[in-house]
Amino acid sequence: MTESWDTIADWYAELVRSGSALHDFSRDSLLGYLPELLRGQRVLDLGCGEGIIARAVAARGATVWGIDPSPRMIEHARSAEKSQPTGAVFSVDDGCTLATVATASVEWVTAGLSLNNVPDLDAALAAVHRVLNPRGALIFTVPHPCFEAPHATWAQAGDGTMRRVVGDYLTEGFWRSSNPNGARRAGNQHRKLSTYITTLMRNGFKIAAVDEPTPDPRVVAAQPQRSGLPPFMLFDVRRA
Ligand SMILES: C[S@@+](CC[C@H](N)C(=O)[O-])C[C@H]1O[C@@H](n2cnc3c(N)ncnc32)[C@H](O)[C@@H]1O
Repeated sequence: MTESWDTIADWYAELVRSGSALHDFSRDSLLGYLPELLRGQRVLDLGCGEGIIARAVAARGATVWGIDPSPRMIEHARSAEKSQPTGAVFSVDDGCTLATVATASVEWVTAGLSLNNVPDLDAALAAVHRVLNPRGALIFTVPHPCFEAPHATWAQAGDGTMRRVVGDYLTEGFWRSSNPNGARRAGNQHRKLSTYITTLMRNGFKIAAVDEPTPDPRVVAAQPQRSGLPPFMLFDVRRA
């Protein structure tokens, strides 16, 4: 069976809700770039999945919309919202168009590990630019383009430590992991770091901060081999 985000949505929701260290770390890294208090602020969470980031942002007082093209992910997000209401509203939509989101309607867009799934980054960033108000910001994470390049693996070095082995960083495009327990079996769009930066600039964003968060103790306890490498890259960009 060829997997998609919709076919792995039940597995992904369970993974995130079981307390995945990497997903909690990804959420917390992104939250670290948002104000503690967001009352009166409107936030769009692009590629919200089962809602881990949208719920946390809503808990800070923001009015939150979460969109995702996977109907099953949105079902999971709505059911979590029903059992523990935060006020977040979820809809099926494509990050490349954001057809359900009005122009200049939000102060913030968050996108946790989702822009590496959109097939057309230019279209998605143009759509984000359209829905942000003139002083709005986009905060997003992607798997680190250098260390999470297609088919990167782990190998034991001569001193017994585990090292990341990266093969073809330079070839961009869609690829699918053969790991039956990995999220990227649903596919992933590999882009070079320079592509992220130039596409942001081309679509009217200026970079306020770039981060490569150091794995926190939860991640290192779960996956010790990750201790010296940033699993994600984080961008804090403003509408120019
Ligand atoms: C790794 S999950 C991240 C979900 C959530 N943000 C989180 O942190 O758990 C990637 C998400 O990107 C979504 N996605 C795939 N294609 C997309 C698109 N064209 N526009 C927006 N989201 C997309 C998937 O459906 C999936 O929910």
